[in-house]
Amino acid sequence: MINRRIHSIGKQIFVFAAGVFALGLIINATPASADGFGPVKAPKVNAKKAALGKRLFFDPRLSGDAAISCSTCHIPSKGFADGLELSKAYPGSDGFRNTPTLINTAQRAAWFHDGRIGTNLNDVTRESITETYNMNMDMRLMQERVKQDPIYVKMFKEAGYGEPSNGSIRKAIPEYLKTLTSRGSAFDAGKMSDAAKRGFELFKGKAGCASCHSGNRFTDDQPHNTGVPNNPEIWKKPLRHMTYVAFGLFMGIENIMNVRRDVGAHVRTHKADGSDIGKFMTPTLRELNQTAPYMHNGMIKTLKQVVEFYNNGGGNDVNKDSRIKPLGLSKEERSNLVAFLGSLSGKPLTGAQHVWKEKINVNYQPIKDWLKQRN
Ligand code: HEC
Ligand code: HEC
Repeated sequence: MINRRIHSIGKQIFVFAAGVFALGLIINATPASADGFGPVKAPKVNAKKAALGKRLFFDPRLSGDAAISCSTCHIPSKGFADGLELSKAYPGSDGFRNTPTLINTAQRAAWFHDGRIGTNLNDVTRESITETYNMNMDMRLMQERVKQDPIYVKMFKEAGYGEPSNGSIRKAIPEYLKTLTSRGSAFDAGKMSDAAKRGFELFKGKAGCASCHSGNRFTDDQPHNTGVPNNPEIWKKPLRHMTYVAFGLFMGIENIMNVRRDVGAHVRTHKADGSDIGKFMTPTLRELNQTAPYMHNGMIKTLKQVVEFYNNGGGNDVNKDSRIKPLGLSKEERSNLVAFLGSLSGKPLTGAQHVWKEKINVNYQPIKDWLKQRN
């Protein structure tokens, strides 16, 4: 009898679970495909907060000298990257890393090429604004500047934030970043060429790419060492080198004046045996057609060269991941892989939903006058 009751409860649970499963199939419009790859789901967004974040993202008043905005480096028509090997920086310095795309960035588990921020986009936004070589802005000054603009006062209020504050600026910008989701690639539309389809099979199979480039964004959100060579510009150009040294001193990189490489994830994990030196976060493979050159330092120019790099077993590094080894792919297989990588890009996100068209400085006369004098 007890047995029968258990049996019948079991049956009810089964029927219930089957129902939930069927319902799940109906509700979930974009299910992951059987191999774990599928379209990236768009996060839920608060439209008013995102619109405010969008204006802030394109506003140069968020930088110390009111000359650069987030969009100076994260350019919408370039997949929210900048097309440069190494990024620009705040006037008077120069960058030492390649600007990554911001499309799908809201779904990462850790940010920056070394993964040094593992909390949330609020912290990434703070660092981007206050870092001396990035936007060099004091948060209190920023807050007061933003309050000078009546349009902001209204937008903050309407978004439910009350008076403009640095805390809400750090919330509104991530809300905007959540609107940047990959859309319309041949891969998602099921319109891949035959070559790209064969490339996808190689990607998951013989070429071994999917062990790190996994999931809908094609990244495991983990750091690995593939042996990408260092970019000599960082040691040749004083403006870049001093930025890297300042960063290194801040992050506690040992013996920084003698370090001749970007140590990568070591700044986060500080392993005593140095086995984390030269590890970089696996990047997303979406929107690659918009974001050349590639890797944390722009050292590889084209997708064809990226595939050659992997086919040759990556670069030279004592810490190189054991999965990175010569692949022996034929010329045709290599070109199939390139075709597959190309199928993961959609149209640039340059519509009104994403880009702020208004000429922003117009509402803040003192800065408008000052910028006019400078130009
Ligand atoms: C001067 C150029 C520049 C400006 C201005 C800039 N960024 Fe960046 N951004 C970069 C570079 C370079 C990196 C990679 C840095 C690293 O790995 O150390 C980056 C990384 C990021 C990332 C992490 C992406 C990832 O996949 O890990 C986010 C998010 C981001 N920036 C958002 C912003 C926001 C928001 C602003 C404005 C408040 C901004 N950035 C301003 C150049 C810039
Ligand atoms: C061991 C993990 C691993 C494997 C296996 C792997 N990758 Fe990567 N991939 C990475 C990491 C880490 C980076 C970033 C390296 C850097 O920035 O220096 C990267 C970078 C890339 C980039 C550059 C993206 C950008 O925006 O800069 C492409 C393209 C790429 N990989 C394609 C592939 C292909 C194709 C394969 C298979 C032949 C493959 N990867 C195998 C970890 C891996």
